[in-house]
Amino acid sequence: MSNWRDPGGWRSMVISYDGNPQKMWDRILVGGGTIPMALRNRKRLASCLIARLIEQVDYDSAHVLCLGAGPGHIITDAMVQTAKNSHATLVDLSSDAFDYGRELARKKGLIDRVRFVQGDVRDVKGMLEDRVDLVKMIGICEYLEDDQVASIAHALRDVMPPGTSIVFNSISKRHGTDRFFRRVFGLHMIHRSPRQLQELISPAGFSDFTVFSEPLGVYKVVVGKMTAAANHHPKGICK
Ligand SMILES: C[S@@+](CC[C@H](N)C(=O)[O-])C[C@H]1O[C@@H](n2cnc3c(N)ncnc32)[C@H](O)[C@@H]1O
Repeated sequence: MSNWRDPGGWRSMVISYDGNPQKMWDRILVGGGTIPMALRNRKRLASCLIARLIEQVDYDSAHVLCLGAGPGHIITDAMVQTAKNSHATLVDLSSDAFDYGRELARKKGLIDRVRFVQGDVRDVKGMLEDRVDLVKMIGICEYLEDDQVASIAHALRDVMPPGTSIVFNSISKRHGTDRFFRRVFGLHMIHRSPRQLQELISPAGFSDFTVFSEPLGVYKVVVGKMTAAANHHPKGICK
């Protein structure tokens, strides 16, 4: 179990995504386990949706802000799925995700298009200056309290012009996910439905939500739109 010491961390995602860990127990868990399978489904679904949203951006290069990005598997998968130009800012607490992330980006030919920022997404307000065309919050809301999700949404309103999109996910207790994470990893994630998440972020000006389920129904990926005018207009946002 040593590979899973930080189950909410980016390394456990890499084990689930790659699907080929060295240890026998990990191989059984990752290959046939519902949760790793659901995580891979979520990654596929989210990257595909993000690629389509990048294509809808009117600017020459779409700027994607990724909160709790880890090394950036999902965003880099999305960026290579589309011919439309894009660049991304990846925010994570763990700067040790970034060396791995730079290597990942280099392999995918994206090294000049990603920027890594070490920081706490709860302080997102201080990190944002430029216009953001799309926000990705996959694999992060389940670690945040209600008021933290709501305050991040409010901070985003300052940099997201009307019509821009946010992508986030819910997690259900389906297939015993809650029991699994608590008993096996001692990890207490916050389970919320898509509606509960929408209720947290919509007061900041988000609406027009569409919900997509991965095949196992453990994760739902939700796309919403910023429909309100910004609180103010920082550098890079034109009225
Ligand atoms: C489960 S991983 C998900 C990584 C990536 N988003 C994905 O889905 O593949 C959660 C990531 O969120 C980061 N994280 C957790 N709380 C955070 C916070 N308050 N601020 C910034 N990053 C955070 C962790 O360091 C970790 O890399």
